[in-house]
Amino acid sequence: MRLILLGAPGVGKGTQGALLAERFGIERVSTGDLLRDAVRRGTPLGRNAKRYMDAGELVPDPLILDLVREVLSTADSGFVLDGFPRTIPQAEGLDELLGELSIALDAVMVLEAPDEVLIKRISGRRSCPRCGAVYNIHFEPPAAPEVCDRCGTELVQRADDDADTVVRRLEVYHAQTRPLVDYYERTGRPVRQVDGGQPVDTVQDSISAVLAA
Ligand code: AP5
Repeated sequence: MRLILLGAPGVGKGTQGALLAERFGIERVSTGDLLRDAVRRGTPLGRNAKRYMDAGELVPDPLILDLVREVLSTADSGFVLDGFPRTIPQAEGLDELLGELSIALDAVMVLEAPDEVLIKRISGRRSCPRCGAVYNIHFEPPAAPEVCDRCGTELVQRADDDADTVVRRLEVYHAQTRPLVDYYERTGRPVRQVDGGQPVDTVQDSISAVLAA
């Protein structure tokens, strides 16, 4: 199974991607997670990417393509791409890479939800800096406030989840990433739309139904 999850910040790409990876035994490739890990470790990529991420802007395409090339080359059992591609040059770079690896996409899954739903979800997101578990104080709170259920670590809010940066991330999505839906339709790929504004399990069921069809 080789999928792209396309959608705005907060629509649930990470949440659904993790469920799909577990269900199909495939690799979830999140460029956001890979970049945050590089920032945490202070690598040259992380130091370079941080200023773009903090401003809600996209990290330059060549850096992202190098990162993804390395990961996809070893994802033999399949993958779900979360947050990549995000620009037309990234989509073209991915096409080139898929050609080199002689593999094709099974679906481009587009998750959609109104901006006000996305803003509420992002404002409520908390994550565990130790084990990576993701919660939502509005929709999926931890048992004890601000503490990870799995490992007891204090939860944190992502640096780019403040209100101003979220507005910019949504603008960037609409201007640079949403046009990929046309790109994939125009180039004859299987584009499937799913309502991402529903509860987590309902979204997962909708994705499964679309994949089964
Ligand atoms: P990235 O980490 O990819 O962030 P994003 O696309 O902005 O998406 P989010 O992680 O905010 O949301 P999500 O859709 O994964 O939602 P989630 O499942 O977490 O990118 C961050 C930055 O890195 C970018 O701004 C850019 O600078 C850089 N970057 C990354 N990739 C790049 C690329 N390819 N090119 C260039 N730059 C790149 O859910 C959100 C919250 O809602 C959670 O709390 C969750 O629990 C909750 N939730 C999820 N689903 C539901 C539901 N159905 N109902 C209720 N709550 C829900």
